[in-house]
Amino acid sequence: MKSDVKNLLLNTKGRDRVEWAYRDMPVLQEVNSVLSRNKPLKNINLAACLHITTETANLLITLKNAGAKVACCASNPLSTQDDVAAHLVKDHGITTFAIKGINDRGYYKHIVNSLAIKPNMTMDDGCDLVTLLHKTRRKYLKEIIGGTEETTTGVIRLQSMSKNQVLKYPIIAVNNAFTKHLFDNRYGTGQSVLDGIMRATNRLLAGKTFVVCGYGWCGKGLAMRANGLGANVIVTEIDSTKALEAKMDGFQVMTGSEAFKKGDFICSVTGNINVIDKHHFKTLKDGVIISNAGHFNVEINIKALKKMSSKKRKLRTDIEEFTVGKKKVYLLSDGRLVNLSAAEGHPSSVMDMSFSNQALCSEYIVKNHKKLKNEVYDVPLSIDNKVARIKLKSMNVKIDKLTSEQTKYLNSWESGT
Ligand code: ADE
Repeated sequence: MKSDVKNLLLNTKGRDRVEWAYRDMPVLQEVNSVLSRNKPLKNINLAACLHITTETANLLITLKNAGAKVACCASNPLSTQDDVAAHLVKDHGITTFAIKGINDRGYYKHIVNSLAIKPNMTMDDGCDLVTLLHKTRRKYLKEIIGGTEETTTGVIRLQSMSKNQVLKYPIIAVNNAFTKHLFDNRYGTGQSVLDGIMRATNRLLAGKTFVVCGYGWCGKGLAMRANGLGANVIVTEIDSTKALEAKMDGFQVMTGSEAFKKGDFICSVTGNINVIDKHHFKTLKDGVIISNAGHFNVEINIKALKKMSSKKRKLRTDIEEFTVGKKKVYLLSDGRLVNLSAAEGHPSSVMDMSFSNQALCSEYIVKNHKKLKNEVYDVPLSIDNKVARIKLKSMNVKIDKLTSEQTKYLNSWESGT
């Protein structure tokens, strides 16, 4: 199947940017050099549905070097970096289906196209590829030995499939690795969402009220970094423990209805639907800037916003202005992931760990798939620890080892005060 990218002539720009990202991916560099030698993915056809970024390119190149035949497609219509897509096709012969700004029909067609590789393994970010496979392309299921999933939203969908006994092959939840969510979700989202908002708007955050909806790892990172830029942060939550955590981390906590009246910026990062809903729009502050950092563009009720608006116009590349009554509401990046649409996603240094987990898990699946059931698995701790060890080494950080006395103490129960 022939690739579908925007413009193959963008490849040299993509090549330079991919190389730049690789410099800050030391763990993946080491994983790449071992997998290139051992070729554990020989005879594996791999279909990957990921954000097509410079970091993803380095993962896909690693998987190809490990012996896999790779086809990839975008996991979001707005996150594709067209120069990277061109580079993958032109310089690495990786079949790629990804064009920034494609419509929903084209987006799903690209996913279907990637399956023409007849995958033995899948790599997904958000579970759209796996869902489509199980719904309408079941003929491909029988050759698949396993897969991986990158993100929280995807893992939630997979757990529902597993619980309902419809999942047809084992999938490793890469998101659940400590070296993934503690860094990628927290520091990656924290930095890249603000990067997206700032690139889109060029507005100052200091002294503004910034509402973060959801205090999972992504919300925690975002609140921490917005606070660092001088914003007054308000957190909204539905989970009592997380709300308490936000309160004790020093943030104001209140209901959405209360918080949205105060916010100059509102960013939803919950993974749920209609968090900023119809009844909220009339109460928003004039000039409020709203965005989404959850996986799907469902967190803001855009349909209702459009219906309620007397006028809408595009003001800047990633800003749409809606007139609601006498007020203006500014929506960023069509309510799609603002960090990947208006900026470049998480920095390479955190994707280094996430994608090293991905590469090592694909090797693990080849070696262990016969022992696995059609369920969702956590990343083996040995892989997680290995990623942490290599990352620390690359940062020239040394840590202590337990003495034999300490090991013995930890394994005993008799001694007390
Ligand atoms: N998800 C978040 N940031 C990303 C990036 N830079 N590349 C791929 N997937 C991502």
